[in-house]
Amino acid sequence: MTNALLVLGSANADLVVEVGRRPGGGETVLGGDTVVLPGGKGANTAVAAARVGASVALIGAVGGDGYGSLLRESLESSGVDTALVKTSARPTGIAYITVTPDGENSIVVSPGANADVSLSDVDALSFDGASVLTCSLEVPLETVIHAIGAASRAGVRTVLNLSPVAELPTETLKQLTVLIVNEHEAAQLASDWRDLLKLGPTSAIVTLGARGAAVVARAGIVEVPAIEVDEVVDTTGAGDAFAGALSARLAEGDNIVQAAEYAVKVAALSVTKAGAQPSYPTAAEVG
Ligand code: RIB
Ligand code: NA
Repeated sequence: MTNALLVLGSANADLVVEVGRRPGGGETVLGGDTVVLPGGKGANTAVAAARVGASVALIGAVGGDGYGSLLRESLESSGVDTALVKTSARPTGIAYITVTPDGENSIVVSPGANADVSLSDVDALSFDGASVLTCSLEVPLETVIHAIGAASRAGVRTVLNLSPVAELPTETLKQLTVLIVNEHEAAQLASDWRDLLKLGPTSAIVTLGARGAAVVARAGIVEVPAIEVDEVVDTTGAGDAFAGALSARLAEGDNIVQAAEYAVKVAALSVTKAGAQPSYPTAAEVG
């Protein structure tokens, strides 16, 4: 294994439809044409990191169907190592996404093959040459817990995007180098951002959408302001872009504040284009 960054997480086909507004229960609304795009929190994170220059492998699973090929093609054309993406007997995961005119999205995920990412996939991993493992939560929680433990024991720094909030063992929280949450998730976990560190991680990042992010470290809280963008087209996968770019920069040796400053830029650029992976900038575009 020679990749500095390992990403464990989902790969989904995103079936995206634009709607004027979301339907309520029992209601039908007409939307635009369905667009099929490569997504999934894990694949998105890996692609975002690769686009900005990281040497990254994804640990995950897709089905032996057309959507699986779409995912592999997007990962590989971005430079992500897919040797550890297995082909499962289940269908590729699908995310049903509606996007409203303000660029806001809501998502239903059907995990499919992602549910097959298992403890044995983690046991097969070599952490040789790895410096960061980044996880997200659309694969089984026990697999994520197992991977964080294994990485931490191997001396590899660990990043977890805890979205949505899930119950984690105290030991796992203590094994985290960086816990990433958004404002709502932070409020579910602690009444004060500083208290996020009492849960166990070495540091935490609270992402604040259009307002940037806050880095919570033992020394205090550093606010990282957002950069202005002209028009918000689609926020889908902006959080994954943040996690991927942050992890890429941490693997390169940036400190957490430098890495967060870079990641805020990458996430901001990603919302100016449609979709998740197709909207992620290259290092040259970040500047
Ligand atoms: O975070 C955005 C992602 O969440 C989408 O790409 C979709 O696949 C869901 O997993
Ligand atoms: Na986008």
